[in-house]
Amino acid sequence: MGRIMAKKTTKCFLVGNWKMYKTIDQAVEFIDKIAPMTQDASCQVMLAVPFTAIKTLSERAKDTNIIIGAQNMNDASEGAFTGEVAAVMLKDAGAQFVLIGHSERRQLFHEDNSFINRKVLRALECDLQPLLCVGETYEQHQEGKSHDVIKSQLSECLQGCPKDAAKNLMVAYEPVWAIGTGLAATPKLVDAAMEQISEALTEIFDAKSAKGVPLLYGGSVSPNNAQDFLNSDEIEGLLIGSASLAPESFAKIISLRQNSPTS
Ligand code: PGA
Repeated sequence: MGRIMAKKTTKCFLVGNWKMYKTIDQAVEFIDKIAPMTQDASCQVMLAVPFTAIKTLSERAKDTNIIIGAQNMNDASEGAFTGEVAAVMLKDAGAQFVLIGHSERRQLFHEDNSFINRKVLRALECDLQPLLCVGETYEQHQEGKSHDVIKSQLSECLQGCPKDAAKNLMVAYEPVWAIGTGLAATPKLVDAAMEQISEALTEIFDAKSAKGVPLLYGGSVSPNNAQDFLNSDEIEGLLIGSASLAPESFAKIISLRQNSPTS
């Protein structure tokens, strides 16, 4: 499958998660504003958009440096599941990647690791790149359980993945307490989590394959703190919620990356 690759010298992915925001017209307006400034972007810009906008945006993004993806999918290939969307349908609409296991899906829609695992396997089978989200809650963080939680989420959500699946996978560390709260994790804490994620991925795959999985941070990333994360060697990209909704703030984060010393 065509893996989504960042430019070789500059491994950095900036992923917007629009959640349940934007009509098709609003989405087109956004992409038209942002596209010119992504042409020379020293990173891969990706947008996880509402289902309704995938087709229009993937056509609009064709000659740009922006990749369009979805925010969720069902694990079944097809069937009587009213209101659900299959991986093959997302592909058909033009999605190239899909967020799986976002904490809002886990908390609000009661998705567990085994359901998430089946989605990851189905996405891989359908040539849709999974961006798997993991992260601990505030209570788990306070109790010092972050490491164990991340490790078990990874091993359960990636169960049964063949070794060569690692090259088609991305992982985002998104501590639940940092999402939508304005309370971002510190780069130091994220660096430590990234090391734990690498260790877990090495156990699941092998060291070489694990190294190839891009590791992103998400949770209250804004134009004010993005540079701190972009400066870290451990963080290979950002998953950005509210700051990806206005073209100005998303563009600002892209420009920080372009001006950062590692780009
Ligand atoms: P936030 O969301 O940037 O608004 O905290 C991140 C996410 O939900 O992926």
